[in-house]
Amino acid sequence: MPTAPPEPVEPSAGVGDSFYPLMGNGGYDVLHYDIDLDITPSANALDAVTTLTAVATGDLDTFNLDFHGLEVETVAVDGVEAEFSRDGSEMTVHLAAAISSGAQFTVAVAYSGIPQPVADPGVPFFPVGWHRTDGMVYTVSQPSGAMTWYPNNNHPTDKATFTFQITVPDSVTAAATGLLADETSADGQTTTTWHMDDPMATYLAAVYVGDFERHEQQTDSGLLIRDYIPRDSDPSILRDLAVAPNAIAFFEEILGPYPFDVYGTIVTPFPLGFALENQTLSIHDRYGIDPYIIAHEAAHQWMGNSATVDDWSQIWLHEGFAHYLGLLFVADFHGQNIESVMSGEYRDLVVTGASPPGGITVQQLFDPNAVYRRGALTLHALRTHTGDDVFFDILRTHYDQAAGGTTNTELFLGIVYDLADAEAVSLVESWLYDPEMPGIVSGPTL
Ligand code: ARG
Ligand code: ZN
Repeated sequence: MPTAPPEPVEPSAGVGDSFYPLMGNGGYDVLHYDIDLDITPSANALDAVTTLTAVATGDLDTFNLDFHGLEVETVAVDGVEAEFSRDGSEMTVHLAAAISSGAQFTVAVAYSGIPQPVADPGVPFFPVGWHRTDGMVYTVSQPSGAMTWYPNNNHPTDKATFTFQITVPDSVTAAATGLLADETSADGQTTTTWHMDDPMATYLAAVYVGDFERHEQQTDSGLLIRDYIPRDSDPSILRDLAVAPNAIAFFEEILGPYPFDVYGTIVTPFPLGFALENQTLSIHDRYGIDPYIIAHEAAHQWMGNSATVDDWSQIWLHEGFAHYLGLLFVADFHGQNIESVMSGEYRDLVVTGASPPGGITVQQLFDPNAVYRRGALTLHALRTHTGDDVFFDILRTHYDQAAGGTTNTELFLGIVYDLADAEAVSLVESWLYDPEMPGIVSGPTL
């Protein structure tokens, strides 16, 4: 079947995200990242080559990559060295020969140095990107930090497949998002290769290096779960992590098959203060492996990682959903009634107040009341209105339409309209946009 010619797009320094104007770049679409990292954890040093395979979506004389810090040694386009300039987090590649719209090309960037995380207005409590703490190297990049360790098109609207090749001293263990495909050792160094064959947003790529033991479990459906825990950890960690296969089975019932080839958790040997759903290998600290948090990050593999927002302002579609799905799992796990769990959430929010999840500022990106809790209550209010059958049909239909790509509130509301009615749309809109918290529709046990 002939494919439509790509829309001509000007090369640009951003894709128009309403919270992050410089994230992403116009003019090309990345198909694949090949990230080759040589890491010296003792010095927190990186010596790397990242190669992007991309398709031009317009005629290009120049194009931008998002890249922050580190020293760039060379840039080669289709094997030919190219000029480049850098300005803050934007790197512009000046092509010796223009690339025409529709052409596929590769860009290889060689770089080195000590990566530094970057301040992000959406995560005021933690700089995002590459970190080293207590000898462990790890990446927590959501939303903007991926550019601190590899050059990219740093926006979820441009997902790609990935290969990671990580070389570290034999004394430590490396892990990355994706399936372990190969491991070789020479001269005291071990190189592991990891494949992420499903589309992934740049912020969900992660590498981890430290003194870890790998443990494996499986879901009943045969999905591999490989966990990395600090060597000599208390065995209770493994008991806590054993909840993950149950959470995955629970969400498969609601949303359909787990979207990727593998799952797992890496547990940090130090307090992190949050957990993050890096694709196929979530990072948690040891205080963050209770059933709710395990389920929350597992739920993100569907809602967040496979179905990803096309603009960061839409984050309630990740966090409101993961919070609600996490509470559903825990209610089931502990035999609680979800109605009473949600009325507890509602009572708390009435006391604290919660601004509307659809009208947040970038500083409220991870606001627990506005985004997580009022986002989850939005879904519960919809469920109370439609009944369970229609509600779960909406969740599943929306996920199916967005899986492997992106979504936004408009897409979700369109499905609410199709499968329920205009009244359901207004109800969801009042939860998403009204400055005041709507009254809760009385369910049987409220
Ligand atoms: N998405 C995370 C969660 O599951 C929140 C992570 C906040 N930290 C960060 N670096 N983005 O709730
Ligand atoms: Zn979350």
